[in-house]
Amino acid sequence: SETGSLSIIVLGASGDLAKKKTFPALFNLYHQGFLNPDEVHIFGYARTKISDEELRDRIRGYLVDEKKASDKAEALSKFLKLIKYVNGPYDSEEGFKKLDKAISEHEVSKKSSEGSSRRLFYFALPPSVYPPVSKMIKAWCTNKSDLGGWTRIVVEKPFGKDLESAEQLSSQIGELFNESQIYRIDHYLGKELVQNMLVLRFANRFFLPLWNRDNIANVQIVFREDFGTEGRGGYFDEYGIIRDIIQNHLLQILCLIAMEKPISLKPEHIRDEKVKVLQSVVPIKDEEVVLGQYEGYRDDPTVPNDSNTPTFATTILRIDNERWEGVPFILKAGKAMSSKKADIRIQFKDVPGDIFKCHNQGRNEFIIRLQPSEAMYMKLTVKQPGLEMQTAQSELDLSYKQRYQDVSIPEAYERLILDTIRGDQQHFVRRDELKAAWEIFTPLLHRIDNGEVKSIPYKQGSRGPTEADQLLKKAGYMQTHGYIWIPPTL
Ligand code: BG6
Repeated sequence: SETGSLSIIVLGASGDLAKKKTFPALFNLYHQGFLNPDEVHIFGYARTKISDEELRDRIRGYLVDEKKASDKAEALSKFLKLIKYVNGPYDSEEGFKKLDKAISEHEVSKKSSEGSSRRLFYFALPPSVYPPVSKMIKAWCTNKSDLGGWTRIVVEKPFGKDLESAEQLSSQIGELFNESQIYRIDHYLGKELVQNMLVLRFANRFFLPLWNRDNIANVQIVFREDFGTEGRGGYFDEYGIIRDIIQNHLLQILCLIAMEKPISLKPEHIRDEKVKVLQSVVPIKDEEVVLGQYEGYRDDPTVPNDSNTPTFATTILRIDNERWEGVPFILKAGKAMSSKKADIRIQFKDVPGDIFKCHNQGRNEFIIRLQPSEAMYMKLTVKQPGLEMQTAQSELDLSYKQRYQDVSIPEAYERLILDTIRGDQQHFVRRDELKAAWEIFTPLLHRIDNGEVKSIPYKQGSRGPTEADQLLKKAGYMQTHGYIWIPPTL
């Protein structure tokens, strides 16, 4: 692996994302030895005028959870010392010249650097300032060493609001940096069971022959949260649940479920296959969409009283290729629902020639639970143990907490930031992939923005509008009745 000075610059250092995700991920990497203290320095940049110490105080409380604080106290104070703060506007030379100077001083002071310089810029910023910030970095802050190293930028969603604005943003940034320098984060790609997807599909003989329209009846990718948009209503109202969750997180998962086997594990080979899936999705039909908005959403003072922004959506995507024609991919996401959960459900078709007459008991279903409590389980039909010959629904179960008791599963951001340092783009969204993703949803989003597709009110803490369940049924999803699986706890 590379050596030399490494500067990680967190832009928007005093914002929510930086505090809650970026700095804690950096601390965890540091604590586990992935950031070499002889090489690394972390810079916070933002407009607020505060001192190094004040920034450290602001983030300290987010870095470790209280229970573990005493074990990690020493690492924590060493880590915080690595952080320096530079303040300045997002569109002025002075600020970025000052930042460059701070980075350069650090590079010179690191003996191990041998002149090479690695600079990672993490945009924990509102997208409106991406273009000026990219310009400033390009003009003043890129790696200047001819002895090696690199400059990379990490950007977060939202990457635009629709196809046109996203393409505009992409080309503005694309004029300044090569695609190989740009890391578009979708943090769902850093989740353990999302990263497991390709292994599962392509390293198991079980799945290879079954993974197609001949056997699979429908696929569901579901995200629910049991809280609303409290505190971020202003942001949310402009975007809505499709842009916030479905167009990015759930669609990325769809790609991994539906893609063909890549030629190799090279990031470009994998991303090539993902793009093909997206390009095979046919336009979404209005009758295959149900939108909802929870009651009370508009009470937020930052949300307009007549907002039509969906906080819930079920949409069916159809992939028009040899493997998937006719199989609905049901993407569903909602805020203020009855539970907090994200899972993938692959439902298989009925067994032909059912001599047990057990069709209506339930179908084989393979479930991958991303969170909470990572698990994979298969619902299957067995003989009810006992003297009678009766069938019953049961499961083959792989619960991670039970199976991998000593393993602590890393946070999504931890892995992804490590990838950006290592230069692995596999789990990041390529420009053409982003474009294809916007192409799928933009017509629908425009119709929603124009009020042509309406959000149906639903109660907080519910399953969302009943129309969504009806749509599921229409799409052929069969619910298993009388089956409850309680995941084992330790
Ligand atoms: C973010 C969305 O991308 O993902 C949030 O903007 C959402 O609205 C969050 O709460 C969910 O992420 P996770 O990792 O908690 O499931």
